[in-house]
Amino acid sequence: MRASVPAMSLQPWFRDAKLGVFVHYGVYAVDSVAESWSFYTGEVSHERYMSQLDRFTAVRYDPAAWADLFARAGARYAVLTARHHDGVALWESAQGGLDVVRHTPAGRDLLAGYASALRERGLRVGLYYSHSDWNHPDYPTLVHPDPPAHDDVLASAYVTPQDGVEDPVAWDRYLAYRDGQVAELIDRYRPDLLWFDGEWERTPRQWRMAELANLIGAAAPDTVVNARLTGHGDYATPEQGLPVRAPDGPWELCLTVNDSWGYRRGDDRHKSVRMLVRYLTETVGMGGNLLLAVGPREDGTFTAAQTDRLTGLGDWVRAHQEAVYGTVAGAPPGHHYGPSTLAADRRTLYLVCFDVPREAVTVRGLRTPLRRVTVLGTGTELGHRVVGGLHEVPGTTVIDAPDPRDVDPYATVLAVELDGELDLYRGTGLR
Ligand code: GLC
Repeated sequence: MRASVPAMSLQPWFRDAKLGVFVHYGVYAVDSVAESWSFYTGEVSHERYMSQLDRFTAVRYDPAAWADLFARAGARYAVLTARHHDGVALWESAQGGLDVVRHTPAGRDLLAGYASALRERGLRVGLYYSHSDWNHPDYPTLVHPDPPAHDDVLASAYVTPQDGVEDPVAWDRYLAYRDGQVAELIDRYRPDLLWFDGEWERTPRQWRMAELANLIGAAAPDTVVNARLTGHGDYATPEQGLPVRAPDGPWELCLTVNDSWGYRRGDDRHKSVRMLVRYLTETVGMGGNLLLAVGPREDGTFTAAQTDRLTGLGDWVRAHQEAVYGTVAGAPPGHHYGPSTLAADRRTLYLVCFDVPREAVTVRGLRTPLRRVTVLGTGTELGHRVVGGLHEVPGTTVIDAPDPRDVDPYATVLAVELDGELDLYRGTGLR
């Protein structure tokens, strides 16, 4: 059961996938305001926020085009916001609440086409679901018992009864609504991945996370679940910043292409393709996946700035796929100046070089003899030798710098074929 052996139950496809696309799609795209948060923080009035429901059309929503774009990006899975904190579901839920089918001009289910288009393209289907619903009348009926991580949890009338009086019956109804919606998602769309969020506003006990984990385990034992099903998920989710040290166990970095999760008209702070290659290789080199977030406009189309980033990253991944998919974390820092990944059989080390190498690329502490080094993509073989070394302390492996013609504009990868499984010396060099 998931509860007793979290990381062990993780589906192998998830570890091998390396790259996913995260899509925040919702009514907030109409006025290009922050997803859900804009009414919570007062950036716009609640009334103004909700008026977007009347103008959400999804008129050019083409899930097959999405799936093509994500596949071109090199992604192996995607995660779509089935319901964000604003409570507006992208499918017609039998549990009540708000949804785009009954409450917006879009008037149709946006999940079914997404799931089938992804599957047709060979991509895994992920659905994001927020435990919290800031529009549900039964939601602000419980008080977080501890000083919560965010002060505004107690101050917000969307979350906490402001007179402090709890209503456990209403809260039971809320949990039945949440569990009913999760059961519907499983039943109707058979997601490969459930990506929970919004967990910080209650304790795991108040959320009855164990019951929800059991429900998912019984209905869909093969579904991968992130750790925001607190205490029961399969993998950790650092957000918006690459960790210095990899979290224990499986993990995934979620990162926005610009500075916003959803579509924001004025946000032009897009990361360059070169920066995205850097994030991807650093993440994969530490054993994680990258979940790259883009936000479509209300009509369902992506801006050119977003698609350019996705296709640019995809071009790089395609030319270097051997160093990406199905690999494991490479050498820890200190052996090579840059990230590296390791083939699953541990016999090829892929060295990522962000800058133009001059004279040599070196590896320290390599104990396994080296067979051959090639530039990934062009196949050019590079000379190499070991310099120095004494007793058990290996010398420095010196690889000739590639010719400028073999240098990739974003990141050059050297495939270092070893005569055995990677074995690294980790000592101080002293006897
Ligand atoms: C935060 C935000 C949310 C976003 C999520 C993605 O938890 O609440 O808006 O969906 O990060 O990880």
